[in-house]
Amino acid sequence: MKYLEFKNKDRMPVVGLGTWKSAKGEVYGAVYDAIKMGYRHIDCAPIYENEAEVGLAIKDAISDGIVRREDLWITSKLWNSSHGRENVQAGLQKTLTDLQLDYLDLYLIHWPVTLKPGIGFPRIPDDFIPPDLIPIQDTWKGMEEILEMGLVKHIGVSNFNMQKIESLLKNCSYPPEVNQIEFHPLLQQKKLVEFCKWNNIFITAYSPLGSRDQKKMLKPGQEPDLFDQPVILGISEEHKKTPAQILIAWPIMQNISVIPKSVNKERMMQNLRALEIELSQAEMEKISEIDRGFRYVSGKLWAMNGSPYTLEDLWGLDE
Ligand code: A2P
Repeated sequence: MKYLEFKNKDRMPVVGLGTWKSAKGEVYGAVYDAIKMGYRHIDCAPIYENEAEVGLAIKDAISDGIVRREDLWITSKLWNSSHGRENVQAGLQKTLTDLQLDYLDLYLIHWPVTLKPGIGFPRIPDDFIPPDLIPIQDTWKGMEEILEMGLVKHIGVSNFNMQKIESLLKNCSYPPEVNQIEFHPLLQQKKLVEFCKWNNIFITAYSPLGSRDQKKMLKPGQEPDLFDQPVILGISEEHKKTPAQILIAWPIMQNISVIPKSVNKERMMQNLRALEIELSQAEMEKISEIDRGFRYVSGKLWAMNGSPYTLEDLWGLDE
């Protein structure tokens, strides 16, 4: 395994198992098998509605002697309806209970979008809380408090653009250590990645395979298939590896952690073995050229008619 090392010397395994879209009834086996085959990093969130099952798999893997808690890296995220300094701990506590853990390795603000208490996904504009009522800096204070309490080892953000990160950096006691973003060859976010590196913020790449199983409602329409990109296909033939493996090797080569989702044993193994692939400078350059700023996770839901959030504000001027 390759790791990303934090300032305090904690190490995050560069490849993790994604659990977004992993169905109940399937995710237990996926997480248990993943740990058995060598995954040590599991990416979770309460909005995936499967944390209790993920937690059971982790607990069983530990009690069966496959792994020790301290050898696992568990990430989860604060949902949008738990923003605000005084709500963070309760949001975290629910996740800790479901995962059957007494601490997380990493806790992220899932989105820079605030919803009213109890809302999963918004259906009407009234489900939102405008950003000036609960500023993201206020929620960050709650994140810093759970860090100080030792309930989480590291804190960070997800889906944050440069402007939003900057507004946290200006006011914080503890800077975010990770920004988890959609990242693949068609969405390379070069400025944001550079900005994060400059500020010692690690990137975790979500939807590295193009989120192939995403529900239609979140999709922006006509979609390119990452596996069919000629540059990816060419490199995959050259290395005698699958396109998925090339797509996973690509962030690893850039010291970016990556969390491909799978519930299939053979594909999970394939994805883990992407660690063995070395891409040449020329191959990295070829991939660099196919960027087209394409999002599989458009964020449109947060910018519905009447919402206080807009896509311009969400994604900022990063590209
Ligand atoms: P499955 O869970 O059946 O393996 P992303 O991580 O970008 O969200 O992509 C997840 C999607 O990609 C899921 O549909 C998953 O299906 C599929 N997938 C994961 N690994 C592979 C692989 N190695 N080859 C092909 N498809 C894969």
